[in-house]
Amino acid sequence: MKLIELIDVSRSFGEGELRIDALKSTNLAVEAGEFVAIIGPSGSGKSTFLTITGGLQTPSEGRVLINGNPFSDVSEKKRAKLRFEEIGFILQASNLVPFLTVQDQLHLANKVERSKVDKQKRDDLLKELGIFELKNKFPSDLSGGQRQRVAIARALYHDPAVILADEPTASLDTQKAFEVVEILARETKMKKKATIMVTHDERLIDYCDKVYVMKDGILTERVGS
Ligand SMILES: Nc1ncnc2c1ncn2[C@@H]1O[C@H](COP(=O)(O)OP(=O)(O)O)[C@@H](O)[C@H]1O
Ligand SMILES: [Mg+2]
Repeated sequence: MKLIELIDVSRSFGEGELRIDALKSTNLAVEAGEFVAIIGPSGSGKSTFLTITGGLQTPSEGRVLINGNPFSDVSEKKRAKLRFEEIGFILQASNLVPFLTVQDQLHLANKVERSKVDKQKRDDLLKELGIFELKNKFPSDLSGGQRQRVAIARALYHDPAVILADEPTASLDTQKAFEVVEILARETKMKKKATIMVTHDERLIDYCDKVYVMKDGILTERVGS
């Protein structure tokens, strides 16, 4: 089942001679249980691609479907709701809230949407990611690798269809980077998510099912590596 689908998606900035075609006509489908890597040099369009896929900005042309829902051509309000329900984001700096404990990082969204805290689900997830014993600690007490695990737990807590990670290991040493990507790969398989990870680190792509290369706004699948 296709959880992410981009159909002829492009994005440009500016006009006339100043126009930058950051993303050229892009087609991509990611199935449930598939872990996809996107690599490419700085300025090649990776973040533009990921923010459009995640509905943080809209394409100039084309359509994005997330879990079958049209995502790019709906109102900002509808898109925000879909984004919340269907997408988990993991960013380079884990973006944890400094004054919340690990367990409360997960519950922040419960507060925002006034939904019930699911303690069982939270604890199971924290155990799965090896951070259960840290649940009452604050981000400043955690190592970089532990923070990224919390960020992964937070992204998974709402059971989104899609996980989007932009350079999730950029601040980690090699061993910790491997551990974090291994967790992402495992959770993607186990929970049948569609996961896209943008990375500049070629060593991490062994964990991925498919690798795409972004160059000058053009996305190409790398076959047989
Ligand atoms: N909001 C924006 N306004 C103008 N140009 C942009 C904007 N966002 C990205 N770009 C340009 O689009 C190109 C791709 O950028 P980006 O997607 O951030 O690349 P990457 O993430 O691969 O480093 C770059 O030339 C960048 O300067
Ligand atoms: Mg970027």
